[in-house]
Amino acid sequence: MKSSRISGFYKMGIEERVKIVKEFAGLTEEEANQLISFNALPKDIANRMIENVIGCMQLPLGIATNFIINGKEMLIPMAIEETSVVAAASNAARMARPEGFKAKASEPLMIGQIQVLNPCRNAVEKIMERKEDIIELANAQDKVLVGFGGGARDVEVRWLSNDMLVVHLLVDVRDAMGANAVNTMAEATAPLIEKISGGKALLRIISNLAVYRLAEAEVTYKKEEIGDAIDKVLKAYEFAYLDPFRAATHNKGIMNGIDAVAIATGNDWRAIEAGAHAYASMQGYKPLTIWEKNENGHLHGKIKLPLAVGIIGGATKVHPMAKICLKIMGVKTAKELAEVMAAVGLAQNFAAIYALSTKGIQAGHMKLHAQNIAIMSGAKGEEIDIVAKRMVEEGKIRMDRAKEIIEEIRKGI
Ligand code: MEV
Repeated sequence: MKSSRISGFYKMGIEERVKIVKEFAGLTEEEANQLISFNALPKDIANRMIENVIGCMQLPLGIATNFIINGKEMLIPMAIEETSVVAAASNAARMARPEGFKAKASEPLMIGQIQVLNPCRNAVEKIMERKEDIIELANAQDKVLVGFGGGARDVEVRWLSNDMLVVHLLVDVRDAMGANAVNTMAEATAPLIEKISGGKALLRIISNLAVYRLAEAEVTYKKEEIGDAIDKVLKAYEFAYLDPFRAATHNKGIMNGIDAVAIATGNDWRAIEAGAHAYASMQGYKPLTIWEKNENGHLHGKIKLPLAVGIIGGATKVHPMAKICLKIMGVKTAKELAEVMAAVGLAQNFAAIYALSTKGIQAGHMKLHAQNIAIMSGAKGEEIDIVAKRMVEEGKIRMDRAKEIIEEIRKGI
């Protein structure tokens, strides 16, 4: 059976890493070459994705190793500019082995909002009476989605003020993120809702607070593995629970992992961010994870958040790298992708609060940070590692020192 536990992956050269990923995921020669080319997006595709294109902004794509999710060995592609995130996720996944993460996701039900101004007094009752007509009209807009087993499922109505109510159209979007389908349905049903309610529809748009599209993951870290760090991690969690200033950073760490997978797979990470933080705020701003000691004294962690992600539509099917990243993970449904992302977010959170509550975060950051400083200071090729290593040893990671060391190397000192 293939394993995502690949020791020394970080020490290998890029070609060697790609070879391993190719074998693991069954990538074609062309896909492997695409990875190695460092030319992520062809000009003609980029030029059609957005307006006024003048170039491409590339991000490094790394692989988090060691993940087992729902019993499946997985390599996780992560696109991110921040050092240590990929290493931290891999480390947290290694420590969770052999059980790994359990994850599940609800049906892909998104909310389309139709804002209605000045409706009649009994508009809620009237709209609910005609619910089936609204659903039927919504489904007439997207025969393909309905054919795949998705479509509008339900209608909810709430008064927001004396003269404003909102209709929620609940739509099963299957393997799509869903914005297009939901927005089309919201726009198409608005005139009927106006007629029924006697009001005027204004905004007709998806809600990113996808409370019916939740993903969950859980993990256990054994006391034999992390020892007395359990109590420290629990105190770190308590800090986030009690203080929104800390909760924001705690959740940012979670989103480091989730966003990196979202970007790698061409998903709309702004929508995911909006949903995650809105969900975290529903009872006052809280951490998205929960950590506790279980009955056996092990550390148990859980995460639950909305994850509106797709594997069809948008950039996921257009961007060549997104297609390769989905293939590397071997996910077959949007639901499965959401489960993976929840597990990665949980791993990322554990890595952060474990490091923060023990040796601190900077130790792990320093090596790559020093390499970046070395590059920014003009180090080339082998000089980069030498300069970075010397700066870390000296505890002076600064551009002026990097420049001095580069000069020393070049003068043969
Ligand atoms: C840095 O990108 C993320 C952390 O700040 C998260 C946290 O503090 O939990 C390390």
